[in-house]
Amino acid sequence: MDDKIYVSYNDIHSAVKRLALLVTASEFKPDVIVAIGSGGFIPARILKTFINRPIYAVGISYYGIDNKPTELPQKIQWIDEVQQKLTGKNILLIDEVDDTRMTLSYCLEELLSHHPQEIAVLVIHNKKKRKQAAFPPEIHRYFAAFEVEDRWIRYPWDAECIEDHDLMAEKTRKAMKEDTQ
Ligand code: G4P
Ligand code: MG
Repeated sequence: MDDKIYVSYNDIHSAVKRLALLVTASEFKPDVIVAIGSGGFIPARILKTFINRPIYAVGISYYGIDNKPTELPQKIQWIDEVQQKLTGKNILLIDEVDDTRMTLSYCLEELLSHHPQEIAVLVIHNKKKRKQAAFPPEIHRYFAAFEVEDRWIRYPWDAECIEDHDLMAEKTRKAMKEDTQ
């Protein structure tokens, strides 16, 4: 089988539930959820089932409109009209994967400029690798559902055939079980 990590919607749902329970147990009381799009959108909606707070969406791109890579991230969607409401608030920032950490760090810096009380970071997968950016020192709460090797992760929302995808996710689960035995 190929070496990609396939995850199903059920895997994501269970992982988000686990993260939500950890947040609740940590006594961090989020006022708002901020989702980094597009990978963070579906996890954010699942999170709302367990932590019922308003969701704000942000989008970042390293590609310009001509589809050429840009040096600095570009905001393709931001929460301008509500950002002043973040002051003094506890923010739960959610994305699907912590890869290079570039996008996450950029979003954290931007959100911190509005002086929230605290920001906690939630991701489904953290890739165990050398990161290209560091979290700002203000970040003390970080929750990752899975620590994974630096392999490509296939998320269910990218699948063109969800049935085939789920079969692959089943294979991934079996392979990971064997690895840990
Ligand atoms: P980070 O701060 O979260 O580490 O993000 P980074 O800038 O390194 O990620 C660049 C893009 O690559 C992000 O997508 C991220 O979701 C995506 N990515 C990184 N590793 C994987 C992977 O293993 N599988 C998949 N499917 N995506 C990965 P983006 O530009 O924000 O786009 P979107 O797909 O979230 O819309
Ligand atoms: Mg993403």
